[in-house]
Amino acid sequence: EGSDRPPGNKWSFSGPFGKYDRGALQRGLQVYKEVCSSCHGLSYIAFRNLAEAGGPGYSVAQAAAFASDYKVKDGPNDAGDMFERPGRPADYFPSPFPNEQAARAANGGAAPPDLSLITKARSYGRGFPWFIFDFFTQYQEQGPDYVAAVLQGFEDKVPEGVTIPEGSYYNKYFPGHAIKMPKPLSDGQVTYGDGSPTTVAQYSKDVTTFLMWTAEPHMEARKRLGFQVFVFLIIFAGLMYFTKKKVWTDSH
Ligand code: HEM
Repeated sequence: EGSDRPPGNKWSFSGPFGKYDRGALQRGLQVYKEVCSSCHGLSYIAFRNLAEAGGPGYSVAQAAAFASDYKVKDGPNDAGDMFERPGRPADYFPSPFPNEQAARAANGGAAPPDLSLITKARSYGRGFPWFIFDFFTQYQEQGPDYVAAVLQGFEDKVPEGVTIPEGSYYNKYFPGHAIKMPKPLSDGQVTYGDGSPTTVAQYSKDVTTFLMWTAEPHMEARKRLGFQVFVFLIIFAGLMYFTKKKVWTDSH
């Protein structure tokens, strides 16, 4: 059984010159922290990454202050004991569950996936030979469009003919429609400091932008370098053209 096709969005990061919207990254981090982090890990991201170029744009001091809000397990110390201490910039985001069994047990049998790479993991692309054309389509947006759609795809009214097992929830966009994640977002749930709308739609787009950054923190540098390579190749092709003409001139 399939699911509805996720609607497209206008993402600031799409296209060859796309950049992350800093405000969206900061708000998305807030949504992750206040809502998603109780179930989902972000284990490939360290607090220091929040202060790196091409990211949410925090200073090193701000990233350190953000880290210190978290309790991080450390040890063993000299006495051989494990202990907790405030987070430091070098620490990675702590995961909500100690292991997969605990994660499954707390969520009706389905472990909430780590979100670090989810926007890439949910990019489906197309098989041979159609992947050739993915280069020209909005391949990069498939993952984020899907994640944003799932977050907004919960509906109380289950369509006729669809049965949702106990402990699952109807979601328009989740493959098979029965998801074990309860509707995580509702209007007004997260208080934004910048006056952005506090709606499910806004939260979903912000947290998805943030999760696009966690999956591709160096996207802006990659696109910049790619553009420079193109400029170089065009200039180089011109130089080679005139060089060739000169070298092959009939001189007698
Ligand atoms: C699955 C995102 C909050 C529990 C997922 C998936 C995404 C996601 C993208 C994967 C769907 C798929 O497999 O295609 C988020 C975001 C959240 C959030 C961005 C915050 C806004 C939560 C919360 C809980 C939770 C608070 C626990 C109460 C789960 C579980 C699954 C899941 C159990 C696995 C569902 C299944 O495989 O049936 N989430 N989530 N999530 N999430 Fe969340």
